Amino acid sequence: MERRPLGNTGLQVSALGFGAGPVGDAALTEDAAAALLHGVLDAGINLIDTAPSYGASEERIGRHLQGRRGEFVLSTKCGYGVPGVEDWTGPCITQGIELALRRLRTDVIDVMHFHSCPIDVLERPGVVDALTRAGEQGKIRVAAYSGDNHALAHALNMGRFGSVQVSVNLFDQRALDWGVAMARERGVGVIAKRPLGNAPWRFSERPGAQDVALYWNRMRQMALDPHGLDWSELALRFATFMPGVATCIVGTTRLENLQRNVQALERGPLAPEHVSHIRDAFRRNDHGWDGQI
Ligand SMILES: NC(=O)c1ccc[n+]([C@@H]2O[C@H](COP(=O)([O-])OP(=O)(O)OC[C@H]3O[C@@H](n4cnc5c(N)ncnc54)[C@H](OP(=O)(O)O)[C@@H]3O)[C@@H](O)[C@H]2O)c1
Repeated sequence: MERRPLGNTGLQVSALGFGAGPVGDAALTEDAAAALLHGVLDAGINLIDTAPSYGASEERIGRHLQGRRGEFVLSTKCGYGVPGVEDWTGPCITQGIELALRRLRTDVIDVMHFHSCPIDVLERPGVVDALTRAGEQGKIRVAAYSGDNHALAHALNMGRFGSVQVSVNLFDQRALDWGVAMARERGVGVIAKRPLGNAPWRFSERPGAQDVALYWNRMRQMALDPHGLDWSELALRFATFMPGVATCIVGTTRLENLQRNVQALERGPLAPEHVSHIRDAFRRNDHGWDGQI
């Protein structure tokens, strides 16, 4: 699996990362979660992304991968969910990092993101400082921001984050023209979230989940020609080889899908004319198509 620098952070990440949202699903048994997490590392993937809001995801990563901690770059998020402490305050960041270290059974978190906060939070006294301080204390390696649109631009302009996590996929391309390009210029790492656009091609009718439904609508309007490729392969090869993108974190509960994704990436970037066709289709249809948080 190809490894790439995560901006100027000094970390090297696999081109395919793992979005561990589904690992927290209560419907997934403990044995299945363990098999999935070990399967991720065995497949050569070295970036695992989680969050406190992903059910049991952090606890399960700590429980099952504690013995393999040296094999992967661990990315998580903070800003909320500390009992008795107001969300998005300095103490919430500081204590949230301590809780995450315990749940993840590690003494350092490689990439700690603010989990999609708005601009006023970024400007609130003491909040970004608390993340910076955790870096100085060696509790996190990289202070990062996860989010989209104006808030992402603001975070990048602050110059205080070493990496960002942003939606990049066939149906969510706006950030490619500015956010990803801006990050690249400044040596800020880019982790592409929702790289399959939540795989809307799986649904013949408009799905109920609001985020999947939004991409499902865009997919119909763009009417892309996959040129004979499987949709997941098309989506993954599009997002992963965009200039500036270090890694794409695909969420899955199925090892067979993980393997298919690894194999798809081995086939390299899409043909340049196919990429242009996909970029044009987005621009033609983009009427307020903001990045999905
Ligand atoms: N920071 C944030 O606010 C934020 C927001 C969204 C996502 N994220 C991160 O990004 C990760 C990925 O995002 P996501 O899970 O929303 O979207 P995604 O990766 O674009 O799509 C995930 C969906 O694709 C399916 N899938 C995966 N491989 C497939 C394949 N080869 N063929 C067909 N379907 C396939 C999975 O279903 P199966 O389980 O059936 O494979 C899953 O339902 C998350 O886990 C999380 O780490 C972060």
